[in-house]
Amino acid sequence: MLLHLKPEQVEIGMFVGGFDGRWIDHPFWRSRFLVETADQLARIRESDVTAVIVDRDRSRVVSGASEEMFPVERRTTIPSGMTPPYRGVERRRAAIFAPSPRARAFRPATYAQERRRAARVIDKSRRAVIDLFESARLGRAVDGDKIAPLAQAISDSIARHSRVLLNLVRLKQKDEYTYLHSVAVCALMINFGRHLKLSEAEVQELGVAGLLHDVGKVAIADDVLLKPGKLTLGERVSVEGHPLAGHSLLAQSSDIPTAALEVCLRHHEKMDGTGYPGGLSGEALSLYARMGAICDVYDAVTSDRPYKAAWTPCEALSAMQSWPGHFDPRLLDQFADSLGIFPVGTLVSLSTGVLGIVTGSASENGEAIVVRVFFDCDLLAECAPVDCEIPPTAREPRIVGRASPTFWRFDDWPAMVQRVLAATPDVDPQP
Ligand SMILES: [Fe+2]
Ligand SMILES: [Fe+2]
Repeated sequence: MLLHLKPEQVEIGMFVGGFDGRWIDHPFWRSRFLVETADQLARIRESDVTAVIVDRDRSRVVSGASEEMFPVERRTTIPSGMTPPYRGVERRRAAIFAPSPRARAFRPATYAQERRRAARVIDKSRRAVIDLFESARLGRAVDGDKIAPLAQAISDSIARHSRVLLNLVRLKQKDEYTYLHSVAVCALMINFGRHLKLSEAEVQELGVAGLLHDVGKVAIADDVLLKPGKLTLGERVSVEGHPLAGHSLLAQSSDIPTAALEVCLRHHEKMDGTGYPGGLSGEALSLYARMGAICDVYDAVTSDRPYKAAWTPCEALSAMQSWPGHFDPRLLDQFADSLGIFPVGTLVSLSTGVLGIVTGSASENGEAIVVRVFFDCDLLAECAPVDCEIPPTAREPRIVGRASPTFWRFDDWPAMVQRVLAATPDVDPQP
């Protein structure tokens, strides 16, 4: 017999057979399990699910069943004068007029609201990736149907508030890297795909690709994977085998999207042909493979590792732009734009109708950008230079995007940059 209980009615010893409510609101990767620990119980009671479905026959505890374990529906109070058919009409009306789960998923959220939801999505995804890697280690085929909802939840969070989840997942602890890296690459791929205006189906596939791209690492010993020093030749061969190992593992499943197979196999290839496993170069590398290479390295260098402190987003982008032959340079610029990262010297337009030059970052984590505003787009004339600090969450003024010196007819752009940067600016947060 199945009982619908409120979360606070669940006890240790009860067998959970499912949850009522949205998938993302329940705190477990599996939805069928025996509640055995106080920690499991606390997570159920603190969750946002509307009801917990308890399988009475598989539960070890049936205490309180006489009163407390009635199905939720049977305990509903019917106001006097209302007959059961009225309740049926009300329920149908509620179902018709309630927002659909997809509509709810895209309801805009404040930064603080989304931060709580994104933290839950990240935690759930991390545990799912651990499960996935464990199964792969045991040689089990990867179940694409379990991965797609994770990519969807990450994608929904980014759609509601593009920066929250990306910022949170970058702040991973050193020991969380292995699993959260997959979640981070998933989020970066989704954000990048949307910026490139790819179809939503492709964006979702790229998310799955991010989650699965390093699954071949299960074949590498942990001491090699986390080794701080230089790898021996044998160890390097083992590490460089992970794209092929991952690809052959994923190819065993029929429901893995093509983009995921492609990114898994090619995310360590380089534009000049010096990457692995195929040594492919230039046009031989698909868009998905080039995107995967960028997102993978960006997350690696902006994360704290046992042997290296994290770079700020700006430092990472500048370094990646200085490695000739590694990435597709035009795609790398697009990637920077997708994250709102503008290297020093970039001409940007602000939402207040002015142009400025990026002169650096104001905060320790490199997220607040300092822009020297010097040109009024309405008057089509230079104005007295003003330095302003723009946090990533700023609504007004905010950076709209890169601007083209050619479009604005700044004929001698390098000389203009020098002149503007040499001037003494005012400091004004509201240009
Ligand atoms: Fe990799
Ligand atoms: Fe990776």
